[in-house]
Amino acid sequence: MPRLKKRCSQALILLALAVGVLIFLFQDHSSELFYETHWQDLGMSEPQHQIVLEPQQQQRVPETQPPALPQRLLVPCFANASVANMSGFSAQPRHIQDFLLYKHCRDFLILQNAPPNKCTGSPGGLGPVFLLLAIKSSPKNYERRDLIRRTWGQEREVNGATIRRLFLVGTEPNGLEARKVNWLLAMEAQAHGDILQWDFHDTFFNLTLKQVLFLEWRAVQCPDASFIFNGDDDIFAHTDNMVVYLQDNKADKHLFVGYVIRNVGPIRVPWSKYFVPELVMKENKYPPYCGGGGILMSQFTTGAIRRASHVIPLFPIDDVYLGMCLEREGLAPATHMGIRVAGIQPPSPRIGSFNPCFYQDLLLVHRFLPYEMLLMWDALKNSDLECSKVSIIQPK
Ligand SMILES: *[C@@H]1O[C@H](CO)[C@@H](O)[C@H](O)[C@H]1NC(C)=O
Ligand SMILES: *[C@@H]1O[C@H](CO)[C@@H](O)[C@H](O)[C@H]1NC(C)=O
Ligand SMILES: *[C@@H]1O[C@H](CO)[C@@H](O)[C@H](O)[C@H]1NC(C)=O
Repeated sequence: MPRLKKRCSQALILLALAVGVLIFLFQDHSSELFYETHWQDLGMSEPQHQIVLEPQQQQRVPETQPPALPQRLLVPCFANASVANMSGFSAQPRHIQDFLLYKHCRDFLILQNAPPNKCTGSPGGLGPVFLLLAIKSSPKNYERRDLIRRTWGQEREVNGATIRRLFLVGTEPNGLEARKVNWLLAMEAQAHGDILQWDFHDTFFNLTLKQVLFLEWRAVQCPDASFIFNGDDDIFAHTDNMVVYLQDNKADKHLFVGYVIRNVGPIRVPWSKYFVPELVMKENKYPPYCGGGGILMSQFTTGAIRRASHVIPLFPIDDVYLGMCLEREGLAPATHMGIRVAGIQPPSPRIGSFNPCFYQDLLLVHRFLPYEMLLMWDALKNSDLECSKVSIIQPK
């Protein structure tokens, strides 16, 4: 017992010293903001570190408090034991069982938050956000995030409108990996201020949870963003074109565009990634929805979807879930011809599909390798791109 006491006091002294050094190092930088990182992934606890966030582009951050998230005590969410009593439950694949056991859980701790001026803008820096890029990324996809930061996801002004960027991530399901990757994400958050991480397992069937948590975050921390782009980290988004397109639209009107998928239903073959058994959904038809690779939505529509999400139970496939929310609100998704979630077909096989001229009029193309993003970005930035009139966008 006395040994334990000694250990504890040693640990406390070390902690106090560390905090003291941090405060000493940064006391002159009164405009810098401190964020907490939580390390309690899967039972591993560590003293809480203080992380210093470099203000972006050397701008001075106004000395206001970050907008407070609703203060709640987070009660750990337990599996719903009576779910396991449903007939056929034990025959389901593991990820389906996980989904059913935990689908009532919607409250998760934020491990990395965005800087408070993410959406409001700051004096001398970027203005209030017009288009917020909310990019779903797996914790380990560091290279993809890095390339997006350097290419289409650059925070900047286009046509006088501010684009800001956030990566939405959960945690690695594997405990040891989680510790490592959380460290990586803490570093990224510190360097770029673009990580929004929650303490839930980042799996395919938890993508709807990620979406719903983001909608809650947006309502509190980013209510004034005119438009939201929701997309994956393996796409190429022509963000300049997006701004030009969105400037012809109104934030307070319905807008939900992407690539609309109709007349499909749950896939009932168990080996499919998209397998949804009757136990999860009885109906055989999905409402119309937009493929999740990339969707643009207005402030109005984001609010409507959030409202619907409060009453519609989580459904494992995130883009279908958004379609369910729209349907409930009496809204419809629309196709934009410039959004190609299935890649693009060049008019002739002799012209490769990797031709910047095909991309100059597009908003989004799915399936890009990281280095291809860099090449495409460079090509599109090259103002004397010589293109004949081979526009592939058909008139609507
Ligand atoms: C599951 O079913 C058994 C038998 O019908 C019942 O005794 C038990 O209480 C049920 N468990 C839960 C958690 O509902
Ligand atoms: C737990 O599962 C049962 C059976 O599916 C369901 O009736 C009940 O509402 C669930 N409870 C929660 C808290 O979701
Ligand atoms: C979703 O995340 C929760 C919290 O980490 C986890 O308990 C659950 O198993 C996950 N669900 C799936 C389907 O992976």
